[in-house]
Amino acid sequence: MARRAAELDAFAAEAAGAGGKIIPMPGDVTDRKAMDELVSAVEARHGAIALAFLNVGTFFPDSENDFGGDGFRKTFAVNVEGTINLLGPLIRVMRERGRGQIAVNASVAGYGGLPRAIAYSSSKSALIAMCESLKFDLDRAGITIQVVCPGFVETPLTDQNEFPMPFLIPVQEAGRRICSGFETKGFEIAFPKRMAFILKFMNMLPYGLYFALLSRITGR
Ligand SMILES: NC(=O)c1ccc[n+]([C@@H]2O[C@H](COP(=O)([O-])OP(=O)(O)OC[C@H]3O[C@@H](n4cnc5c(N)ncnc54)[C@H](OP(=O)(O)O)[C@@H]3O)[C@@H](O)[C@H]2O)c1
Repeated sequence: MARRAAELDAFAAEAAGAGGKIIPMPGDVTDRKAMDELVSAVEARHGAIALAFLNVGTFFPDSENDFGGDGFRKTFAVNVEGTINLLGPLIRVMRERGRGQIAVNASVAGYGGLPRAIAYSSSKSALIAMCESLKFDLDRAGITIQVVCPGFVETPLTDQNEFPMPFLIPVQEAGRRICSGFETKGFEIAFPKRMAFILKFMNMLPYGLYFALLSRITGR
């Protein structure tokens, strides 16, 4: 899923060259009606969706004097509402069949509030809590829900970052970790393990220590 059809076509051609098959379905996740139609179109043309990976997300660096400005609202529109726009129709069709698998790409940045990422961090926290809450219902409906929590991965999204990115991994490595997580069907697919563990541990600390440690590490 992406808006730029030409980029998707190029990706599909690359996959075909390597013996794979990708059928591009361009669309904008912030368009609720279009996402409803897209899920129906995929099912009508290609059959029941067995596994959906909701990967789309965006990041705008915080603008210090503009809390709640355009970048902040776009982050929530894409990361949170965009995910809801796809989760709605996917859960509907999978519930009818009593089976299916959905993975939502969140981030280790959603474990707790991080400096320089107010909108991003809080949007990803919302996704993690959303998947946790959904799991109680979806387990009973026969649908597997998973949350993907990557650390830093080399992509165009992180190319813009000027701050240090510890444990940065290549995108191919992230792809491998995510695919093997699909197979295990465990609730959380988190990597690199060291990054996930450090942030999880920090979030178990009393707030005084959490804020002091993160300020020290990030210089904020
Ligand atoms: N890179 C990291 O370090 C990292 C770490 C943790 C989590 N993540 C998460 O991983 C996911 C992928 O990130 P990435 O690093 O690959 O980001 P990216 O390089 O910026 O790619 C984002 C993709 O989403 C598409 N997109 C953006 N807005 C869209 C919209 N409104 N509707 C449909 N498609 C849209 C973009 O294509 P178009 O512009 O053509 O629409 C692009 O293909 C995101 O959810 C991100 O938060 C990334």
